Amino acid sequence: MTVILDGKKLRDKILEELKTRLEKYTLKPTLVVILVGDNPASRIYVNNKKKTAENLGINSIVINYPSDVPEQVLLDKIEELNSDKNVTAILVQLPLPEHIDKFKIINAISPEKDVDGFTPENSGRLFTGEEPYVYPCTPKGIIRLLDEYKIPIEGKHAVIVGRSNIVGKPLAQMLLNRNATVTICHSRTENLPDITKTADILVSAVGGKIIGINMIKSNCVVIDVGIFKDENGKTRGDVDFNTVAPLTSYITPVPGGVGPMTIAMLMSNTVELFEKNL
Ligand code: GUN
Repeated sequence: MTVILDGKKLRDKILEELKTRLEKYTLKPTLVVILVGDNPASRIYVNNKKKTAENLGINSIVINYPSDVPEQVLLDKIEELNSDKNVTAILVQLPLPEHIDKFKIINAISPEKDVDGFTPENSGRLFTGEEPYVYPCTPKGIIRLLDEYKIPIEGKHAVIVGRSNIVGKPLAQMLLNRNATVTICHSRTENLPDITKTADILVSAVGGKIIGINMIKSNCVVIDVGIFKDENGKTRGDVDFNTVAPLTSYITPVPGGVGPMTIAMLMSNTVELFEKNL
């Protein structure tokens, strides 16, 4: 029987716990989100983050810049936020426009306020096994979801399709830290179905219709990180859910799987950074 991994239900439980945790404090955390340009998907994500934060009692500030903002303006703002004692957490929404060097921007964020865990210090700590200030939100949400449903990770073959710095690479390391055997596949991987068919846990983070019934092993766990609108305007993920789901033991829906978990982990990271700094 297939179990649907309910990211919304778990998100609600996590947010309730965070709310209670924050009620103990007179001070409130402050999350600052920097949004450059008017990418519609980014705007929706940022609005969701703001709404969720406010419901929890986290101050949330969104700083909006036009897409042609000079890089130096962003660097100056980040420096100001780094030294502002009232700012707990800084997030620069990705992707950034072409003329901006995303590495320079991310590197400018203080590791103690890096709520995404993307700075070289935090990602370096993740890769060496030293505890980072916080772990990247989407991979952390995926592992939290697996743990909630008591899905074993140790010794399992986890295949990740997608090698982004936001999901694929940090998730691979986090699964490795939990003693999974990890394979990362990407757009140049040859014979992709031969590899995905060996997965006990298959994670797809590509943003395109790619995972069909010919690509999975019976009873595997499928985590779908992709989210996009198809040609009919319907929100969907990388996995052909209707045909694939019956073959799996556990699967995330899109929407309602990984997406809500990412937001919950962003809130959790904000609270963790706040408590580390008390
Ligand atoms: N764009 C898509 N996902 C993310 C994320 O987790 N963090 C940031 N900063 N930008 C994103």
